[in-house]
Parts: sequence; C-alpha cells; structure tokens
Amino acid sequence: MSGVVVVGSANLDVVVRVPRIPGPGETLLAGGIARGAGGKGANQAVASARAGGAPTAFVGAVGRDDDGAALRASLTAAGVGVEALGESGEPSGTALISVSDDGENAIVVVGGANASWDRLSDAQRATVAAADVVLAQLEVPLDVVLGAAHARRPGVPFVLNAAPSRDLPPALWAQVDVLVVNEHEARDLAGGASLDDAVAALAARVPAVVVTLGAQGCVVVEGQRRTDVLGTPVRPVDTTGAGDTFCGVLAARLAAGDGLVEAARWGGAAAALAVQRPGAQSAVPTADETRRARAAQDDGADGADGADLADGARSARTEGTPR
Ligand code: RIB
Repeated sequence: MSGVVVVGSANLDVVVRVPRIPGPGETLLAGGIARGAGGKGANQAVASARAGGAPTAFVGAVGRDDDGAALRASLTAAGVGVEALGESGEPSGTALISVSDDGENAIVVVGGANASWDRLSDAQRATVAAADVVLAQLEVPLDVVLGAAHARRPGVPFVLNAAPSRDLPPALWAQVDVLVVNEHEARDLAGGASLDDAVAALAARVPAVVVTLGAQGCVVVEGQRRTDVLGTPVRPVDTTGAGDTFCGVLAARLAAGDGLVEAARWGGAAAALAVQRPGAQSAVPTADETRRARAAQDDGADGADGADLADGARSARTEGTPR
C-alpha cells in the first residue's frame, strides 16, 4: 500500500461532561458519560482516511479485549487499513476525559497496550516502508516513533505531531521533516519568551513547522518562509481530537500532492468542523464536509502570506489551540 501510514496510540475514551474542568481536590457532578473510540494515533488515521485522497493504514497496538475489538472496528469502519494493528496481553489504552461546557477538555491516559508496545514488528515495518507520508505522535514509546521514522523509504516525509508534550531525543529531532504542535507544545519544546520566539527556535531545528492556534488558524514555517493561515471562528462543543483531525487531514493532503500551506488550510477546515461535535473519531468530518468548509475559507484571505522570517513579519496569535 502507499498513501498515509499513521503510527501511534488507540484508546477507548471515557468522556464526562462537566460545567468546568475540576481543580485539585474538587468534586463535580457530571452531566453525562459516554464511551467512544479515540487515541491520538487512531484519531489521526480516521481523519486521514475520511479526508479521502490517499489510502490510510494504522500501525499500533490494542489489547485482546472488548475495547480492542471496538477500536479496531472503528478504524475499519472509517476505511483505515488495520493489517498492522498489533495485539498485546495488556489491556487496551484508556483515556479519561472531562469536557467542560465551553468545549475545553482535560485528559488522563492509561497507556496499556500502547505503553507496552516496545518496537515495530517486521510486518509493521513493511507497512511503514510502503508509505508516501508517515505520521506519528508521542503517545507511544519513543523507540516506536523512532523505529517508524527509520522504517520509511528515503525521501518520504516524516510528520511528527509532538503531542502530548515530552522531550525529544536528538536522534528523533534529526528525523522530523514536518513538526506539528499547538502553542503549548511549541513552548514546551522550544521555551522562549514569546510564541514567535518558540516558532523561530523550532524552525531552526526542522525543515518545516506548523503551530496550530485553534480558531485563529495556524502558522506554517518552511525554511525562512512563514505563512499565517487564518482560522474559522466557531463555537466549540468539544475540542477533543480537533488537533488530531488537523494532523490526519494535513497528512492526507500532503500524500495527495498538496504543499504544506495548502494542506494546513484543509486541516484547519476539518478541525473547525470537528470542534462543533462531541467525541474524537465520532467528530471527524467526511471528505464532502471538509471540501465545503475549505471552499468557504477561500472567501477570506490569509494574513502575512509567505513573509520572510528575517523580515520580522510576525503576528502569531495565541488563543484556542486545538488539542
Ligand atoms: O487527542 C485526543 C485524544 O487524546 C483522545 O481521543 C484521547 O484518547 C487521548 O489520546
């Protein structure tokens, strides 16, 4: 197969609706509880597959349990290839998610099978080797992420969504072609007094960086060229998985031949739809929905398109980052 191969986590999401994200020591009464398919890797694979344009396979690990079967079924239903989805003696990953009335969330992940996955199998390496674009995150062990980067063919872009935040070893930095982070992850990785400083520091380490800014769009830096891509103002219902939708659609568009800025526009259009729906994989839009949203974006115009970093033309905005 060619197309997009997503390497990462799959979790069963247990979601409670709460008036606000609870603070330390606080007990809140939830308005409801729901279970759904999630995990950053699996969400991104579903988003890529639903975007159309490129076949998508998922490389990951689930437990030999009912949750594992449900996670596999959700991927399959979205059209994701699961031949390289391994099984583990550990329970499937679980994410405990609080979603507040304003759509924000707080997530605790129990890694389970994701965390016990220590290296790619031969079959998983072969799947990665057939990819046109490889997309990974940081919810599985770093050795697995690095193994995926090494398994790709020369010249195949390795897109790393550095979420959740953790330090990257130099060997992994050296593999990254496109780094996708939200503003918090950008600051965690790069430090810096301002977001612009963080963006510049990251751009100095990898060939291309995308920093998502939620409703305010994203910043794309390729070499010295910076493009500020406008976002779509929407009222969020649940931001869970919106960043995953962005990454999956971006990867699918890269595999279909788009440049990075155009791929980011598509990712932003899809993420703006995803935040208006509850859940993670359940919120990922169809290709038709994303196409319409992308067409509507063209009525607006991006700012600072193609500005040179050296010009100091910077206007990074800082609110509403999708996670
Ligand atoms: O990015 C959202 C995802 O993070 C959720 O689906 C949850 O499983 C955690 O992995």
